[in-house]
Amino acid sequence: MNSFDKPPPPEPMSTSLIQVRKLTKSFRKGSNLITPLENLSLDVSRGEFLALMGPSGSGKTTLLNLIAGIDTTSSGNLLIDSQDLGTMSRAQLTRWRSQNVGYIFQLYHLVPILSAYENVELPLLLQALTRSQRRERVEAALELVGLSDRAHHRPAELSGGQEQRVAIARAIVHDPGLLVADEPTGDLDEESAGAVLDLLCSLSRDHDKTIVMVTHDPKAAAVADRTLHLEKGQLVSPGRS
Ligand SMILES: Nc1ncnc2c1ncn2[C@@H]1O[C@H](COP(=O)(O)OP(=O)(O)OP(=O)(O)O)[C@@H](O)[C@H]1O
Ligand SMILES: [Mg+2]
Repeated sequence: MNSFDKPPPPEPMSTSLIQVRKLTKSFRKGSNLITPLENLSLDVSRGEFLALMGPSGSGKTTLLNLIAGIDTTSSGNLLIDSQDLGTMSRAQLTRWRSQNVGYIFQLYHLVPILSAYENVELPLLLQALTRSQRRERVEAALELVGLSDRAHHRPAELSGGQEQRVAIARAIVHDPGLLVADEPTGDLDEESAGAVLDLLCSLSRDHDKTIVMVTHDPKAAAVADRTLHLEKGQLVSPGRS
């Protein structure tokens, strides 16, 4: 056997949960092509809490949607837990997302006619669980966000901070490894924002969640392990021009 026949050494196990390589995302608007993300690369470690900042229109939500498997790349590779999202069909991506990702929105997106309990239960209805298994998980998620006593309140009967905590319970109830949050404190007063950020920190530190959070607020970014800025389609570390 000469040296050309030698098999390559095995790839070391990556510690990155998210691996983005030369990712480009374009949108066509009429005759215009908008390319918010161009040739972008990023690694996010397992259990890391990453904050993403950048001017309005710089592509933050676009990047979150790609990482969450809600949208698909124009070119480049996007691997989550070594799975290449670009190779999945729409149906596979939907199934993957329902098992692996929790999404937290700025304006909570709770269903107004459902109670906090029923809102949190929603993602579990996609899974083969009995009613009592669902109850156990919903109660644990509501307890984790400190809202067991509000289970039967509807969103209109909750404060904004409580609504966001219910939305976080909904995002974690199916035990995803990855949480993406798009300006989760953008609509909250300082005290409620602090409670939401404490909760996200605890999910990262004590529950092994990997979190990618978009924020415009430097105080929110400060609680993350690392902050990156999105500018002109590229990610840069703060301080670099
Ligand atoms: N579905 C779409 N179709 C066409 N263009 C889009 C689409 N989604 C986003 N864009 C464009 O891509 C660019 C980036 O948008 P994106 O929403 O990612 O910005 P953002 O950084 O999240 O901004 P903000 O801070 O205001 O939320 C914008 O120019 C936007 O108009
Ligand atoms: Mg956005």
